[in-house]
Amino acid sequence: MSSLASPEYGWWKPFPRHEKLWLIIIGVAAVLLSIITIVWAVSGKQNVPVASYNVTPAAFEKQVADFTAKHQIPGATGEVRVPPGEDAFLMANMWSFSPVLHLKAGQPYTIWMSAKDVLHGFSLAGQNLNLMIAPGHAYGVRITPQGPGTYLIFCNEYCGLGHQAMTGKIIVE
Ligand code: CUA
Repeated sequence: MSSLASPEYGWWKPFPRHEKLWLIIIGVAAVLLSIITIVWAVSGKQNVPVASYNVTPAAFEKQVADFTAKHQIPGATGEVRVPPGEDAFLMANMWSFSPVLHLKAGQPYTIWMSAKDVLHGFSLAGQNLNLMIAPGHAYGVRITPQGPGTYLIFCNEYCGLGHQAMTGKIIVE
């Protein structure tokens, strides 16, 4: 028989036992992962944006500036005290978050965030809250700060040479 001859008819049968076993293992794993994903999505405490709008970086910068001017803490440039019931605004740009937000513990807030230049990320240290912040869109995130303390915001999306130093602060009083 030449090496170019067709294999014997029926070479694919019988389906070997170990191949069947792998199929079963993969099938079970796929079903389990699907169930975990659904349970996680429904019952896990996901912290997702509650609303969004389109906004140019310049327009959002103005909103942040107006908000900062309105609630500026005297003597602390770039720090604002957000009264309960008021929305907060946060700008991400290379390589900082501004302003520093002072929030009251136990009060629900909506924080609107957007980016001035490139794609950034928003992570709140120790919290289950990770988002992308894109220029051109503002996202509203609903948070209710628990205990008092200083919470570090850091950027979780590579955004240039200063990325690893890009941080901000939320101070809960
Ligand atoms: Cu902003 Cu990384």
